[in-house]
Amino acid sequence: MTQVTLNVNGKTVTRDVDDRTLLVEHIRRNLGLTGTHVGCDTTQCGACTIHLNGVATKSCTVLAVQADGSEVRTIESVADGDILHPLQQAFHEHHGLQCGYCTPGMIMIGLDILRRIPNPSEAEIRHNLEGNLCRCTGYHNIVKAIQAAAQTIAERRR
Ligand code: FES
Ligand code: FES
Repeated sequence: MTQVTLNVNGKTVTRDVDDRTLLVEHIRRNLGLTGTHVGCDTTQCGACTIHLNGVATKSCTVLAVQADGSEVRTIESVADGDILHPLQQAFHEHHGLQCGYCTPGMIMIGLDILRRIPNPSEAEIRHNLEGNLCRCTGYHNIVKAIQAAAQTIAERRR
């Protein structure tokens, strides 16, 4: 066991963790934040995407002990109470989800895309989504939602 301290969604949390524990399992089982999903645990689906020190990261690719001292942001931090983030609202309005299993990961990668590319083209969104799989939507509405959120965020900045 190794002591691991993380800042998770703005709160410092310290736990003793088995060295073999994946960060996603630490987040879900030890910290109880089950909004981050596991679709494969082999770095293929993106359901486990979180932000690690501000960068979208598949949390099944990282051991919890490797993340010691890091900042972690999960889907639970994205809405402001009952007020959805513009990207979440856009997923709702543009039908960017069906079963919803991929959605937390899609939102976290979407936020990272908008951080890096404030006004992304369709091609840029599709390219940056290639590590996140969705079995339901065919991606079209996810792309539309990210583009719509980019517009909303830009309008709010004016
Ligand atoms: Fe991490 Fe699928 S659960 S990429
Ligand atoms: Fe079902 Fe994406 S909405 S996997």
